[in-house]
Amino acid sequence: MATPSAKLEPAEPEDLPGAWAVYLACTRPEDQSGCRQAAPDRPDLPPPLYAHLLLTSEGAFWVARYEDQVVGFAAAVTRGRLWWLSELWVAPGFRGRGIGSALLRKVRRASRGVRGRVLAGLTGPDGAGMVLGLRAGMWARYPVFTVEGGQEAAERLRRANPLPPGARMARYDAAAKLGPRSPLLRLDREVLGGTRADDHVFWMTHGGRTCLLLWKGNRALAYAYLGTGGEVGPLAAAGPQGLRSALGLVVSKAARKSETVRLRIPGINQVALKAVLDAGFQLVADSQLLASEEFGCLERYLPGDESLF
Ligand SMILES: CC(C)(COP(=O)(O)OP(=O)(O)OC[C@H]1O[C@@H](n2cnc3c(N)ncnc32)[C@H](O)[C@@H]1OP(=O)(O)O)[C@@H](O)C(=O)NCCC(=O)NCCS
Repeated sequence: MATPSAKLEPAEPEDLPGAWAVYLACTRPEDQSGCRQAAPDRPDLPPPLYAHLLLTSEGAFWVARYEDQVVGFAAAVTRGRLWWLSELWVAPGFRGRGIGSALLRKVRRASRGVRGRVLAGLTGPDGAGMVLGLRAGMWARYPVFTVEGGQEAAERLRRANPLPPGARMARYDAAAKLGPRSPLLRLDREVLGGTRADDHVFWMTHGGRTCLLLWKGNRALAYAYLGTGGEVGPLAAAGPQGLRSALGLVVSKAARKSETVRLRIPGINQVALKAVLDAGFQLVADSQLLASEEFGCLERYLPGDESLF
């Protein structure tokens, strides 16, 4: 078969439906070679996430085109010291021809100031995804497990991890007030080593997630997001007690909206893993965290998704 040569270009808003079609082709159940993802609510529309990536990736969103059709795309976001590979997808019929490597080179070059940053991303069981990450100096660190549980497991988790005396958890709906002293950004600085105000605003608005903040006195112990379909995360906590309590409460709230609660837990976060496994949650998938060096305190963190971590 002749090798098709693809043209690589910075993405424009009109490319997003094409990128979405590539993603859907890559994640069909019969082609689950890449990062495993839940079925999208609206397969006919690119998610608001892609528009957010286009707006906040500072030129690091590229598409590969073959005969005017998008056949691959990559996007990366820079948040503080962290350069995060959000998307890297090549349509099944176009793989093994250098398109993925070329897209990765483009988004690395497009990101201003990659030097001195931690390059990181998540990859699924696809050998090529792992190989491209390793070649870019992003080494395999540890698994990130996807776990699922039903309403009984969620209730067991909540009962085993009550709020500390004097603590309260409340909805935090202050997207417009995310100044540098915001508790969300302070927790991000402590746990991830950098801030990402734009992503919080996105999650609370077009991202369809609700943010809960765990307070004790005037100190924020943790933030935790829940989605409409039972997904939990991101969650960042100042310490293990805040982590357990926030997890118990956000998971029980998620279980009121959905029969199944789904969360991702870094292998290094033993507190969260032990808590959910003790409550009867099941491990259903895992991906690998790739990173050029260790970053943050991920033993106090649960990612929200593969794209914004
Ligand atoms: C990862 C992905 C983007 C790669 O795209 P691609 O266009 O096939 O990539 P390339 O052709 O540029 O490079 C793939 C390389 O991996 C190598 N490779 C593939 N499987 C391998 C394996 N099991 N062991 C060693 N090398 C392997 C190929 O030989 C090729 O190297 P070469 O060019 O030196 O021969 C594509 O497979 C994909 O979309 N996967 C699903 C999504 C995914 O996993 N994304 C990763 C992050 S979420």
